[in-house]
Amino acid sequence: ADKKIYQASTTAPVNIAVVKYWGKRDPKLNLPTNSSVSVTLSQADLRTHTTAACSSSFGNEDTLLLNSSPQDVTGARTQACFRELRALRSSLEASDSSLPKLSTLPLRIVSENNFPTAAGLASSAAGFAALVRAIANLYELPSSPTDLSRIARQGSGSACRSLFGGYVAWQMGSKADGSDSVAVEVAPASHWPTMRALILVVSAEKKGVSSTSGMQITVATSKLFKHRAEVVVPQHMEMMEKAIKEKDFETFAKVTMMDSNSFHSVCLDTFPPIFYLNDVSRSAIRVVEDINKKAGKIVAAYTFDAGPNAVIYFEEENVEQVAGVLKSALGSLDGWQGRDIKVQDTEGVDA
Ligand code: PMV
Repeated sequence: ADKKIYQASTTAPVNIAVVKYWGKRDPKLNLPTNSSVSVTLSQADLRTHTTAACSSSFGNEDTLLLNSSPQDVTGARTQACFRELRALRSSLEASDSSLPKLSTLPLRIVSENNFPTAAGLASSAAGFAALVRAIANLYELPSSPTDLSRIARQGSGSACRSLFGGYVAWQMGSKADGSDSVAVEVAPASHWPTMRALILVVSAEKKGVSSTSGMQITVATSKLFKHRAEVVVPQHMEMMEKAIKEKDFETFAKVTMMDSNSFHSVCLDTFPPIFYLNDVSRSAIRVVEDINKKAGKIVAAYTFDAGPNAVIYFEEENVEQVAGVLKSALGSLDGWQGRDIKVQDTEGVDA
């Protein structure tokens, strides 16, 4: 039999939402209750590198190593990605009998993050984006980034946005099968070359409540959540896409901060409440407020995901005012601090 090893590699970047995804209308397909927008961060600072291989010599189980430790691939999310990608490969094989039958071979996947896992950053976005594209490359699928985003979404919602560089919207869609719940580019990185991000590692501990279970309890118990999903986010989406197109930093920053605050208030309104921010997170918010007050305009924006670590967006010309002040105010924090991170281009994503 053919013992040949077929393989392909790729990288995928991390993205940090400025209008947050929080809530599933269909937990099985990972369909969200609201659209979201994110900024893709440079792969020079943060990325997952993944190699996907398949061979009849691999035994009969799919395996995944992340930073050298074996991961469970039997979960519904990972299985959904494998199943979708295999189905696409299988239809290619059905239409061209000269193609090797890769769709039936066991997969061996090896992933590495270039940022410390101890950074406590949500790495599932880069992880699932890289996993899906590595297998798509291995299977030589003719899929576009938006096609792949539909599959990566089923691994981890936020992963769909990591198939693009620059500024990316995840359109919630309205179809029950999820076919229109995909990521699209709002603007490329080159559109706004002065944008920078800074990551403040407040705590490297693993988050207390996972996003999946947090969202589930929020949807089930928070009354504020309905208002956020139906009224607040649609407004934020419109303002944010316009701010990005016009490179209007003040509006971009204001919406980013207000959306993060809205998301964390919905967490507090969840019963029992979910606390992702801690005292250090709150002092980072105060430092950003002081920086903006001193500047007489908004030059920095904070945002927090499902954990206490802050991501601060600013423009390059204000690096001293922002990164300098944050460093002197909060510089005693230990752990890895990513500074002056640029926005990733889509062109460089699949490198
Ligand atoms: O992709 P998930 O299921 O880990 O959810 C991510 C949720 C947030 O990071 C809090 C918000 C977002 O849009 O990325």
